Amino acid sequence: MSHSVRVFSSLEALAQSIAAILIKDLDRIESDHYYTLALSGGSAAEYIFSYLSDNYADRISWEKLLVFWVDERCVSPDDDESNYRMAYESLLQNVPIPDANIFRIRGEDDPSAEARQYSELVTSMVPEYRGIPQFDLMLLGLGGDGHIASIFHDRPDLFTTGRLFEVVTRPDKKQKRITATGRLINNSLKVYFIVVGKEKATVVSQVIEGKSGSELYPATRIMPASGHLVWMLDTGAASLLKS
Ligand code: 6PG
Repeated sequence: MSHSVRVFSSLEALAQSIAAILIKDLDRIESDHYYTLALSGGSAAEYIFSYLSDNYADRISWEKLLVFWVDERCVSPDDDESNYRMAYESLLQNVPIPDANIFRIRGEDDPSAEARQYSELVTSMVPEYRGIPQFDLMLLGLGGDGHIASIFHDRPDLFTTGRLFEVVTRPDKKQKRITATGRLINNSLKVYFIVVGKEKATVVSQVIEGKSGSELYPATRIMPASGHLVWMLDTGAASLLKS
C-alpha cells in the first residue's frame, strides 16, 4: 500500500492544492456524470471549506459535484456540533451547487434507522466498484487519538463489518454519531487526509511511519484498494516526520 505525503508551508497553499485537484478532476468528468465527494468535519476541513468559498466560488464546476458526508453527529442540522451545518455555512451556501446535489446525514433522526437509510441513499447515488459504492474523493481529518471519520479506537469491528454506515458513541464525550465504515472508506477512488497544526505532529508521525502503538489507531487501517492515499499536511503537522 503506497501513499504520498505533501507538506505545505501555509494553509493557503494546502487549500489551493485541494482546489487544483477538484478543478482537474472535474474537468475530466464526462458531461452527464457527477463527481462524488465525501466530507469530514473538524477545524482543518472548515478552514479548507472557507478558503474554497472565499476564493473559488466561481472557479470550480460546483454543479458537477454530489456532496455526501463521511460522518455526522446525531444532532439537528442547525446544531453547533453538526458537520452538515459547518460545511453548509463555511462553503455550500456560498457556492453555486444545487441543493439537490447535497446529501446530508439526518442527524436528527433515529441513528440506527438513518445509518441504514443513508447507506441505501449512498448505494443508490454513488457508482459502485466491486459491489461497493466508490466515492471519487473522500476527505478525512485525523483526530489526536488517531481516529478518522467517527471510527474510534474502541470499534475495530468497523473495519470488518459489511455495512456502509454504522452508529457509534464517541468514547470520551459519549456523543452518538453515524460514521462511514472501513469497507466504504477503503473503497474510495481517492482518500486525502487533511491534517494541520503542530499538535498533530506526534500522531501523524506515528501513523505515517508506523511507530509502535499506532497499530491501534483507526487511521493506520485506511488503505484504499485503489492505492490512492495522500496526506496533505502543513509544516506543523509534518514537523516530526523523519523523511
Ligand atoms: C468529526 C470529524 C473528525 C475530524 C477529526 C479532525 O466529525 O469530528 O469527522 O474525524 O475530521 O477529528 O478534526 P480537527 O481537524 O478539528 O482536528
